[in-house]
Amino acid sequence: MYTEFPRRRTRIETPMKSQSQMQRHNASRGAVAYTPATLALYDLLVLGFSNSFVWNCPTRLILDFYNQHVSAKHLNIGVGTGYFMVRCRFPALPAIALFDLNRNSLEKAARRLRRYAPACHMGDVLERIDIGSSGFGSVGLNYLLHCLPGNLKTKSIVFRNVKLY
Ligand SMILES: C[S@@+](CC[C@H](N)C(=O)[O-])C[C@H]1O[C@@H](n2cnc3c(N)ncnc32)[C@H](O)[C@@H]1O
Repeated sequence: MYTEFPRRRTRIETPMKSQSQMQRHNASRGAVAYTPATLALYDLLVLGFSNSFVWNCPTRLILDFYNQHVSAKHLNIGVGTGYFMVRCRFPALPAIALFDLNRNSLEKAARRLRRYAPACHMGDVLERIDIGSSGFGSVGLNYLLHCLPGNLKTKSIVFRNVKLY
């Protein structure tokens, strides 16, 4: 099923199935913080400031990692502002799929990446990821795990879900 956003014309595929309301509620708590306002500040505060001055891991190191591993068929889960996909060097004109629980993140990343016409999918990575495409050469999950509810064991379902792609 596709949802058309009239204002920004971003087409986002929404899931047709769901798990329990409670699980969905828990997962959505990790995504709800990403409003248009917080996303507007995200690159500056998180990638510009806290990566360097709080975590001592400058954004350029993460970008280097992206440049080493990103492929021309890339799936990104938990897209945020799409920063690393905007800045990285793809080995060829890429086919990109974006997957996120939050429409604001999907819209922002899709807008910044519009030259690649990414496919947008809205869903919870803790559920089965159903995006109708597979064979991705790279999957980005940067800064996603801390947003997910539960402990490392329950979060690890993400890797099982992603492995199918
Ligand atoms: C901290 S941002 C990551 C931004 C980006 N990956 C980066 O490296 O800058 C986390 C993103 O994960 C998304 N998210 C949180 N919980 C999620 C879930 N259960 N399923 C899918 N996406 C989720 C949020 O909406 C947000 O866009």
